[in-house]
Amino acid sequence: MDTKNFTEKFYERYGNRDDKPVLFFSPGRVNLIGEHTDYNGGFVFPCALNYGTYLLLRKANTNTLKFSTINFNDDSETELKDIFQNTGKKWINYPLGVINEFLKKRIKLSGLEFLYFGDVPNGAGLSSSASIEMVTAVALNEFFNTGLDTLELVKMSQKAENEFVGMNCGIMDQFAVGFGKKDHAIFLNCDTLVFEQVPLILNDCSLIITNTNKRRGLTDSKYNERRGECDTAVELLQAYKPIRNLSELTTGEIHVLEKYINDPVVRKRARHVISENGRVVEAVKVLKNNNLVRFGELMNLSHDSLKDDYEVTGYELDTLVYEGRKLRGVIGTRMTGAGFGGCTVSIVRKTDSAKFISELSVVYQKKTGLVPDFYQPEIGNGAERIE
Ligand code: GLA
Repeated sequence: MDTKNFTEKFYERYGNRDDKPVLFFSPGRVNLIGEHTDYNGGFVFPCALNYGTYLLLRKANTNTLKFSTINFNDDSETELKDIFQNTGKKWINYPLGVINEFLKKRIKLSGLEFLYFGDVPNGAGLSSSASIEMVTAVALNEFFNTGLDTLELVKMSQKAENEFVGMNCGIMDQFAVGFGKKDHAIFLNCDTLVFEQVPLILNDCSLIITNTNKRRGLTDSKYNERRGECDTAVELLQAYKPIRNLSELTTGEIHVLEKYINDPVVRKRARHVISENGRVVEAVKVLKNNNLVRFGELMNLSHDSLKDDYEVTGYELDTLVYEGRKLRGVIGTRMTGAGFGGCTVSIVRKTDSAKFISELSVVYQKKTGLVPDFYQPEIGNGAERIE
């Protein structure tokens, strides 16, 4: 990130070089294992990336909020109000949704000038939206001395996404973006929000993220459909036990699904959630014991379950994963995020990484006609002021 150039762009847009804006950064995230468990009160194991959203922010002696981004040409401004409404399909709904959460808390804001820059691909399952929300929340918290803690900012950002943007996500993304720690992954219980930052020691291996570059069309509606199926499963399982969510069942209870859930689709959805929770718990344990090979196997099993039981993968993700597994040095590889497109995450031996990238790229293009992008991220900190 060339901060000098970024600041220069800020002055070009907003003028007044005597008043320096403040720089904040918020990461994107990649989830290592624990998919579609967060809204079922289960376990997840994501980590924050060194890719994310930069925000330069400055107070103005006006009543106007001005939004701009380096990523595309879509500036907007609005007068401060008591409460905002969603502005249709515009990106400023992310910051505006967060601002709304501050207003709901009766926090008095002033005019502001925002300039964003994001280097995490949009809509690729790496939480570009949570990243924008959290960078905004952390910046406003500091600018207006609100004194809210990170968990509160995480919850406000999730609310902005759920209620203002209208995407009914769980808490994983905002949490990972808020509580990320350099070289650590976050083992989070999404029911109690108790979490542990676990050192991510990959020894002679590295993380590789591969973007299918498939346009994600129906993700939101399919996502909500899956949530609905899980709710149905919980209702049916009341005849077995009074549970609030699927994660209250253990892998030892998977056999009861057969008896209480007739619909084979709903049964498969429940099986994924329960088995995935088991895999996350084991994955964290084996990682702590430095058993990366088993960790990789669990990643593979996670993908298989997301493909067969949860049915959120699709041809592109499956091609990357199953072709990837044939290559030398691959410890584990799976889809990450909501699915239906987006990215895979793989653990690959460093000595084989270059070949993994070149060979997978060729076969993926041949099979799908799409050109994949590869990222070799570092694991970074959560949202914070950097200058
Ligand atoms: C999206 C949502 C998360 C989570 C994942 C699936 O990223 O935003 O809350 O549900 O999908 O694990």
